[in-house]
Amino acid sequence: MDKKLQIDLQKTPKHVAIIMDGNGRWAKGIGMNRIFGHRNALTAVRESIEAAAKINVEAITLYAFSTENWNRPKLEVEGLMQLLISSLKKELPTFQKNEVKVNAIGNIESLPKKAQNTLADVINQTKDNSRITLTLALSYGSREEIVNTIKNISKKVVNKELNIKEIDEKTINNHLYTFNLPDVDLMIRTSGEQRISNFLLWQLAYAELYFTDVLWPDFREEHFYDAIIDYQNRERRFGKTSEQITE
Ligand code: IPE
Ligand code: IPE
Ligand code: MG
Repeated sequence: MDKKLQIDLQKTPKHVAIIMDGNGRWAKGIGMNRIFGHRNALTAVRESIEAAAKINVEAITLYAFSTENWNRPKLEVEGLMQLLISSLKKELPTFQKNEVKVNAIGNIESLPKKAQNTLADVINQTKDNSRITLTLALSYGSREEIVNTIKNISKKVVNKELNIKEIDEKTINNHLYTFNLPDVDLMIRTSGEQRISNFLLWQLAYAELYFTDVLWPDFREEHFYDAIIDYQNRERRFGKTSEQITE
C-alpha cells in the first residue's frame, strides 16, 4: 500500500528537522571515498523536501554542515563547500517548481565567499515561494547560536532597548537564528547514531525524536513517510497526563 495514504494530513508535523548522517559510511561500504558519499546524498535531500511538501509540512530544516565539521580533513571540507555551491545551483529550478522558499541558519559569514553568494542568490530568488520553507543549517552549532543570542539580547539591555524584566522565552525565540520558524515537531536522524550533535538544542525541547539505521544516501520518500507515521502514532503530552490529552 502507498505509505502516503496512511498519513493523517490533519496531523502532519509543521516543522521537521533532519540530521542527515551516514554519507561517509555509505561510501566506505562500497569502497569509495567520503566525498563520493556526500555527492550521492542529493537524491535523499530532494526526495525528503518533495515528500514533506506533498503532505503539507510547513518547514523542513536540514543539518548540512556543523561548526564541528570544520575540523574534518581540509579536502573533505573543500569538497563539501564545492558540493554546496553546485547543488544549490542545480536545485534552483526544482525549488521554483515545488515553490520551496530557501532559508539558511548558522555562521554563514564563515562559509567561502562563493558559497555565501550562491546561497544569497538562491534565497533571494525563492523568497516569494510559500509552499514549504527549506532551512539549511550551514556552519551551524546550537551552542554558538545561543551565545550569539545572548550577545544580541545583552546589547539591547545595555542600550536600554530592553528591560531585563521583559526577557522571557519569547525573547529568546525571537533572537535565535530560527526566529521565523515554528517549533520543531519531529527530528529525524539517519545512520543509527542516537545523539543531537549540537543541533537545535533549544528548538528540540519538545520535539519527537526518530532514529533510523538507514544511511542518508539511501534515504527515500518512503523512509520519510515511515518517520511521519511513527510520529503520528505517538502521544505528545507536553507534561500533561494521557487522560487530559484524550479528553
Ligand atoms: C553526514 O555524513 C554529512 C555531514 C556531516 C556533512 P557523515 O559525513 O557524517 O557520514 P559518516 O557519519 O562519517 O558515515
Ligand atoms: C552531524 O553529523 C552534522 C551533520 C549531519 C551536518 P556528524 O556526523 O558530524 O556528527 P557526529 O560527529 O557523529 O556527532
Ligand atoms: Mg556522521
